[in-house]
Amino acid sequence: MNEKREALVLSQGEIAKDIYDLWIKQPEIAGAARPGQFVMIYCEDNSRLLPRPISICEVNAEKGHLRLVYRIAGEGTAEFSKLVSADRVKVMGPLGNGFPLITKKAILVGGGIGIPPMLELARRLKGEKQIVLGYRDERFLDKDLERFGRVWIATEDGSAGTKGTVIDAIKEHKLEAEVIYACGPTPMLKALQKYAIVHNIECYLSLEERMACGIGACLACVCKSVGRDEHTNVHNKRVCKDGPVFEAREVEL
Ligand code: FES
Repeated sequence: MNEKREALVLSQGEIAKDIYDLWIKQPEIAGAARPGQFVMIYCEDNSRLLPRPISICEVNAEKGHLRLVYRIAGEGTAEFSKLVSADRVKVMGPLGNGFPLITKKAILVGGGIGIPPMLELARRLKGEKQIVLGYRDERFLDKDLERFGRVWIATEDGSAGTKGTVIDAIKEHKLEAEVIYACGPTPMLKALQKYAIVHNIECYLSLEERMACGIGACLACVCKSVGRDEHTNVHNKRVCKDGPVFEAREVEL
């Protein structure tokens, strides 16, 4: 899947401040995509900006449609936010390993711009799902996620749900699970990693790292792993190629 393909822009809108909701049509990528994988989107051909990794939020494989929800975080994503219906854009993917789909009582945790991959995951998981979403303030995708399970909210400013972190919300509502899936900022993942180890819960974390190539070639995205890589004999893993999803006990955060 390491080749650039042309995609047709179907629609785009801003769903919260600087958070954009982009639907594209690209049947090969949509047909192969799994929850937790990502795509690289390329800027205009004459732009020197690097492609940007964007996680896959929702897939309609039959129609060949992909939903990408991202935050404007620099010039590249600012350029994508100007795409309108009928524009064409170059995309590579699906990339990375994605979440394993385990039919057990699950807690899905999304923090900030780590929330989008939880939507396709919630859609495909078959077991009981409890969904915990952490926001700084403004909410997005919470209504979409309510289609697939009960949703609990944590906000930093206390404007909705539990005031505090996603861990505070899990404790407040006494949520229990046999497996935890999470994507979000590193402090949140670290806290969940600790929580899962202490409570002996299987846990999969999607690491948000700065990526450059997205296909394992540049080493811009390495993280520390507990075990040694069998090829290079070092304690490193490439988030883009070996991840972005890792079992919680596999990586040092
Ligand atoms: Fe290049 Fe991961 S982004 S190796």
